[in-house]
Formats: sequence, structure tokens, C-alpha cells
Amino acid sequence: MRIILYAGKGGVGKTSIAAATGLKLADLGYRTIVISLDAAHSLSDVFDKEKRLTGSGAEKQVQINDKLWIQEIDIHEAIIEHWGSVHSYIQALLNSSGLENIVAEEVAIFPGMEEICSLLYINQYVREETYDVIILDCAPTGESLRFVSIPTALEWYINRIFKLERNLMKVVRPIVERFSSVPLPGDDYFQNIKELFDQLEGIDQILLDPKITTVRLVTNPEKIVIKETQRAFMYFCLYGLCIDAVIINRIFPDTVDSAFFDTWKQTQQTYINDALNYFSDVPIWKVPLFDDEIVGEKGLYRLAESLYADIDPAEVLFDENPYQFSKVGNQYQVSMYLPFITKQDIDLSKHGDELIVRIGGFKQHLMLPRSIAHTNVTSAKLADNRLIITFDLPEGMRQAEV
Ligand SMILES: Nc1ncnc2c1ncn2[C@@H]1O[C@H](COP(=O)(O)OP(=O)(O)OP(=O)(O)O)[C@@H](O)[C@H]1O
Ligand SMILES: [Mg+2]
Repeated sequence: MRIILYAGKGGVGKTSIAAATGLKLADLGYRTIVISLDAAHSLSDVFDKEKRLTGSGAEKQVQINDKLWIQEIDIHEAIIEHWGSVHSYIQALLNSSGLENIVAEEVAIFPGMEEICSLLYINQYVREETYDVIILDCAPTGESLRFVSIPTALEWYINRIFKLERNLMKVVRPIVERFSSVPLPGDDYFQNIKELFDQLEGIDQILLDPKITTVRLVTNPEKIVIKETQRAFMYFCLYGLCIDAVIINRIFPDTVDSAFFDTWKQTQQTYINDALNYFSDVPIWKVPLFDDEIVGEKGLYRLAESLYADIDPAEVLFDENPYQFSKVGNQYQVSMYLPFITKQDIDLSKHGDELIVRIGGFKQHLMLPRSIAHTNVTSAKLADNRLIITFDLPEGMRQAEV
């Protein structure tokens, strides 16, 4: 069982690469599903073929061949199926605030619902062992980070807030309803959340197990895209997900020899070198810009061939977490995987929200999470192939002494 996320900035080639990977896996004999996590679905357009629908409701899938399915979740249908009472309550609440019915219906889909619906399907497929590989074609970076952070956030909500809210509501409802026309959530609302949570049980362990789930970051050799890839790399590590490849897409091939593209080619080479430097531990694949857009199976096979040749895409290509973040008392620790490094002079410097680590001729850039970007390094030491950097937390983030 494998889950592979293809993530990256908008327009870098995630959907094309996810679709091409699906075809390659199916050819290798894996029962594969490619699920689009982007509300602006384009997955079926990429395959550009007559649709054979299977399943019903929000669970409609399109069968591409004997071993390959694709799924674009219909958020409205999924919400009616899974969020019935939660959705109706929020809608009633918005209505009572004077919002037109139709607007309330739209607004009642709040951020996170779509991601939760996708997680429900993924968990169901994992439990029922429906597929050998689940490929996730992610929405642009910000939303896919929210997707991977949801299991932890939900766990926190259910354990800390949910029980309290539910019990509190039982006590205050009779009083509030006497004085206010604002509807309060009924117990079916809480029951619904509880059921959803039960259906999601275990998904966090699945996403955090590097033998099952890995992320492949798709990027282009351009300054802003590489910068966002660095940030995404750091945040996926922060959430504990394993990144097992970085794919640099749309590289001008040597056959492009018009003088018009000379500067472009130099620029691309600069950022390819930067990417090789930043993501040096993780396998990096390069994909050329093709002579046309990638639509239909022929184009997708061409892309798959360029990407994988003899590689089995289902393999875990790298299972070490290059960065680990932890909070120890009033200190924040970042540990960096640096194999083959012996004790030498370590030079650390900060440039904006980047930490630059120099060890001999080796230079590594690490994007820091916002919470510690403006904090000074207190110490750095090497242990077990890792460089451990400690930051003293600023006053406001310290735990109160008891
Ligand atoms: N290597 C390539 N050569 C030529 N065209 C490409 C290449 N990679 C992607 N494209 C084209 O670029 C466009 C965007 O690709 P795609 O839809 O896969 O990106 P995306 O990252 O999924 O975008 P979004 O963030 O909007 O979902 C498509 O028209 C696709 O055919
Ligand atoms: Mg896409």
C-alpha cells in the first residue's frame, strides 16, 4: 500500500505528473487511483478521453484502464453525504444572520471541509485495501499544507474542545434559547462530527508513515518557484511527512538553440544548481519542457518515460526526514540530516527567514518556520549524522513556569 502526494506551486505540472505516474503504475500492474485534491479539477481533462463512470454520489470515479481509476471529488455532493447536520447547522446560523439562502449555502463550505472529505475517501480506500497505490494530485502549496495539517488539528480539537463544547451546549441551550433567536447546534451536529472523526481514525499514522506516504515536490527552475519549493519542503518536514523526490519540470532542452532563449537557459541553470544544492539529500529528477502541452495518453506516456524509465514510482526513494523540528522546554530544536559530516567548523548565519549552514565547502539553506524566524541560534552540535541547532524561544512563546 502506497500513498504519493504530488505537490507544488500553481501551474508547475503537478496534475500532468500525477496522471503520468498513474499510467506508469498501472502498466507495472498496480491497482492505482489518482485523486484530485484541487477543487478546480483538471485531472480528467488531462486524460482527454471518453469517461466510463463507476461508483455513485460524490464517489464517482472514471476508469481509465484495467488498473487505473481517477477521481475528482464533488465537494457539494460529498458534503451532503458526510457533513449533513454540520452543514445544515452552519447554514441555519448564517441564515439567521441575514445572509441570503443561496449565499449561505456557498459560505457554509468552510476551509478544511474539502480536505476532510478527501481524507475520508483515502482512509476508506486504505481500510478496504481497494488500491495498491493512491496518487494525490494536490492543490497549490498552501492548500496542500492545510490538507496534511488537518489530522493533527482535528485530533487537538476533538480531544481538547469537542467534549467541552458538547457538554457545555447541553447546559446552556435551554437558557440561551429562551433569550436568543440564534440557533444553537443540536446534538446531531456533535454526533455528526464524532462520526466523521471516527471515520478518519488512523489517517494521521498513515500520512506520517514514510513506508506508506511520501511527498514529491514538483518545481520549475525559476527564482520564485524554487523559493516556494524550499518553503514547502520545510513545512512538509515540519508536519512530519517524508519527501522522497523533487522534480524539476519544464527545463529547456539542448535542442532549443535559438539565441532568444540564451538568457532563459542561463537563468534556469542557476536555479537548477540552487535546487541541487538545497535539496541535495533527496533524489532530484529533471524533466524537459516538451514541444507541446501534455494532453492525452500519448503525451502522458512520454512524460512518464522521461520521469521514470526503469524506476518503479511506487518505491520509497528516500525515507530519512532531512529536517526535524521539536520544542524542548523553552527551546526550539531543528535537527538536520547531514551524513558523512565529521566534526568541523560549523558556520551559521541568518538571512531573513533563512538559516544558512556552512560546514567546510558544504552550504545548506533552511527556511525557518515563522514562529522562530526572528529568534537567535543558541547552540549547534553534531550527533548521529544530524546537526542539532537550538533556538531560545522568545519571551511570548515560553511556557509559564509552574
Ligand atoms: N514538461 C512539460 N512540457 C510541456 N508542457 C508541460 C510540461 N509540464 C506541464 N506542462 C503543461 O503545463 C500546463 C500546466 O500543467 P499542470 O496542469 O500539470 O500543472 P499543475 O501544477 O497541476 O497546475 P495547477 O496548480 O493549476 O493545478 C498544462 O498545460 C501542461 O500540459
Ligand atoms: Mg493541477
